[in-house]
Amino acid sequence: MSMTAPIRRMTVPQIRAKKGGDPIVSLTSYHAHTAAIVDKYADFILVGDSLGMVMHGMESTIGVPLDLMIMHGRAVVRGTKRALIVVDMPFGTYEESPNMAFRNAAKIMKETACGAVKLEGGARMAETIRFLTERGIPVMAHIGLTPQSSHVMGGFKTQGRDEDTWAAHIDDAVAVANAGAFALVVEGVVEPLADKITAAVDIPTIGIGASAQCDGQILVLEDMLGLNPWVPKFVKKYGDLGPAIEQAVSDYASEVKSRAFPGEDHVYR
Ligand code: KIV
Repeated sequence: MSMTAPIRRMTVPQIRAKKGGDPIVSLTSYHAHTAAIVDKYADFILVGDSLGMVMHGMESTIGVPLDLMIMHGRAVVRGTKRALIVVDMPFGTYEESPNMAFRNAAKIMKETACGAVKLEGGARMAETIRFLTERGIPVMAHIGLTPQSSHVMGGFKTQGRDEDTWAAHIDDAVAVANAGAFALVVEGVVEPLADKITAAVDIPTIGIGASAQCDGQILVLEDMLGLNPWVPKFVKKYGDLGPAIEQAVSDYASEVKSRAFPGEDHVYR
């Protein structure tokens, strides 16, 4: 018999059932300690492949390896107990075939103990999403501005500025929902298109730079904390930790240089 109480995390069906209900709160997190804070407030936490840029100084998410996602995924699962943990499938680990996607998604789920994976792409990924969900892997889809395709898109560009493109984005949303995705990140699309996408699907939409009418919102934690020197225009900063960290580091450096640190309260006697 187990001596510990079972962990009651938010489940995939619970997230799915939030369609049209109370807005879903979500953030990214890549470490055990920040995840433990986010865990108190978020319905799900995304271990996003944005970690390549935010934590590892990469220029895009294209170079993020699977093992790095697994390492950060494990840390976030360890640091949390109530949010659903979703781990991004990095570029090149799922697009080639449903079989390849299954192998890598199963590896992520087995090695991190996360509850779901996320992958980018609309109608073109529908067959893969169906293949994964039919085999026990819950999939969050991601459409609109899909950073892993930034080279094809010509950069990180807002989608749907031209109304003629709306039908294709809505088709993407419907295709991934019909294929079994339990939720859908809608990134960087103009507000009226995001609203049409939300109305077109029976799964929750999670907006990022999209619309307040999405069924939930997500932000990159370091962006909203003011830790990244550059953030997209749509990001609201809820904190300004960059300058606070710099001040603390500079105070410490001055004290060390003037031999004021450690003070008498900070040494063993
Ligand atoms: O990688 C990521 O952090 C993401 C979110 C921005 C949705 O995909």
